[in-house]
Amino acid sequence: MKPILLASLLILSGTPRAISDTPADGASLFTLNCSACHMLDQGLVGPSLVEMRKIYSGKPDAFVKWCVAPGRKRLGAIEMPSMVHLGQPGLRSVYEHVMAISKGVVAKKVDLRDSFATAPTQTVRPLVQRMFLPDAGPAAIGVALDDKTSLCWDAGSCRLRYSWTGGFIDGFPYWKANGSSQATIVGKIRYTETAPLFPGTAKFAGYQIASGLPVFRYTIGSQAITETYTALPAAAGITRSFTFSPGTALSLKLTGKTICDTGTLKDGKLTLTPAQATRFTLTHRFQ
Ligand code: HEC
Repeated sequence: MKPILLASLLILSGTPRAISDTPADGASLFTLNCSACHMLDQGLVGPSLVEMRKIYSGKPDAFVKWCVAPGRKRLGAIEMPSMVHLGQPGLRSVYEHVMAISKGVVAKKVDLRDSFATAPTQTVRPLVQRMFLPDAGPAAIGVALDDKTSLCWDAGSCRLRYSWTGGFIDGFPYWKANGSSQATIVGKIRYTETAPLFPGTAKFAGYQIASGLPVFRYTIGSQAITETYTALPAAAGITRSFTFSPGTALSLKLTGKTICDTGTLKDGKLTLTPAQATRFTLTHRFQ
């Protein structure tokens, strides 16, 4: 073992207010954290939900225990990464979801697939994946905005790290736990943010999914902030919408070809009044 387990523990200590702060919705937690490796009625990288049901029906505690500290059981299977970051309530709601949707389902006879195989869920767009990504903290979240444009958002420091075009993520190095627990970016990095956009210490408050895309929530001091993204057509860039509650006067240094739909932009410096800061959108055009 145990690079994965170790890294998971890092997440736990690095982001005390982790993803489990969002209302625990078993179905979406499952999609985000489990569906890359587990399918309903057939083996994928890990066993089917029907098989989980056989083992864990009526045993939520044992299920949670496995997810926090997965063991090694099946010959030839990779090691399952710990899901400790979801917390007890999160894992309980995943358990309820797994039990509910596997009820009465009959499994197809398929062997566990080669872990090199791409899970069907990995090709769905948009897609959000909790992964260990290069050049980001241990709480990185990969977001495929559409079939061309993706980004890495760091939930540890609550900021965009970089955006890239091409493919999304090759999770294999991460899944394989072969010493390198990081997934690989597929494509070319087009925009990197070297410093946080806002001054002050940000605290992650979870994210929700709206129309398939994450709405990141965090606080800086007494300010509650949300951050959402879209891709410009033809991999031309990204838009980034913020809300500040309450609004506060902001003075931001913008990098690259970035514009804002409000405020005053002069020599790369954006000035927003408190009213303008309640809702504004930055557009980064890739060079
Ligand atoms: C990166 C791939 C991967 C992810 C993500 C993943 N699992 Fe697994 N899971 C596996 C593999 C591989 C096994 C089989 C391990 C073995 O038998 O040695 C497994 C086994 C299991 C088992 C069976 C345990 C047993 O006693 O046989 C359960 C239950 C389970 N996973 C639940 C989950 C849940 C719930 C999530 C999401 C919160 C999740 N897994 C996410 C790969 C994964």
